[in-house]
Amino acid sequence: MKGKEKITWLVIYDYHTAQRAEEAGIEMILVGDSVGMSIYGYSGTVPVTMDQVVGHAEAVRRGASKTFIIGDMPFGTYQLTVEEAVANAIRFYKEAGVDAIKLEGGVKVAKYIRAIVDAGMSVIGHIGLTPQSSGQLGGFKAQGQTAESAMKVIEDALAVEPAGAFALLVEAVPPEVTAIIAKKLNIPVLSIGAGPYCDGQLLLDIDLLGRGTVFSPKFVKNFVPQAIASLIEETSTDLLNLAKITRRAFVGYVREVKNGTFPDPEKHCYKMLEGELKKLESELAKKDTKEFLAKCHPGL
Ligand code: KIV
Repeated sequence: MKGKEKITWLVIYDYHTAQRAEEAGIEMILVGDSVGMSIYGYSGTVPVTMDQVVGHAEAVRRGASKTFIIGDMPFGTYQLTVEEAVANAIRFYKEAGVDAIKLEGGVKVAKYIRAIVDAGMSVIGHIGLTPQSSGQLGGFKAQGQTAESAMKVIEDALAVEPAGAFALLVEAVPPEVTAIIAKKLNIPVLSIGAGPYCDGQLLLDIDLLGRGTVFSPKFVKNFVPQAIASLIEETSTDLLNLAKITRRAFVGYVREVKNGTFPDPEKHCYKMLEGELKKLESELAKKDTKEFLAKCHPGL
């Protein structure tokens, strides 16, 4: 679909919501380790275990048998040894029947991506704001707003493709930086809070449905009001049915991602700081490509 049609992707943790997503034509589902915050009420993703995400992925697979499902590797399940990373990825495949797995990081995790791909599985990278290392990033904060930070995000992006990943997710990064990344890579680049200039979008189901009350990031859009408005217009009795409202909200998300109206760069995106894009462009122009690429995938 790269270059032809925008890809729609949702984070979902349960059977019924997965059914609604498949009915709405969502192309990919991520069973995210955000389950820790969204479902279990933890303050972050760090405590989430393999048992928890594999259990949710099994349920999602039962609800959406035809959809491309991605399992999210929790913190501590891929950082110790490549053997452990491969073994945990295999659990997702064998026990939950996922189609791919996702892990966070770029340059530092390239060797784990390579090992999992060499074992016959598909991997999507995740860079920018990586929630599992939010402590090192100073919290759940947008990345790439200065030239220096954007260069780090770009180096991470360039590490993921040669390691064998089939796609890359960029989180909470200004759209200009994502656009540079999408131009440099051959694999699809998807965004959550990283702007419209790439190959597809990801949102959490609970954000799209307005169910999260604790914190709502800038890039979130609640699609329930428009779903309800359209049902009122049709004087539909579906208005009394949460399953149908959910499906209608997902259909609205699919429509807006496909026609490019979501995300809106003014409403849903982070900005680079004044003068930093120019600095970044001149830094990039100065780079010797070979040396730059070697730095991005050491040892591969
Ligand atoms: O776990 C998750 O939901 C994620 C998204 C925030 C990208 O990793």
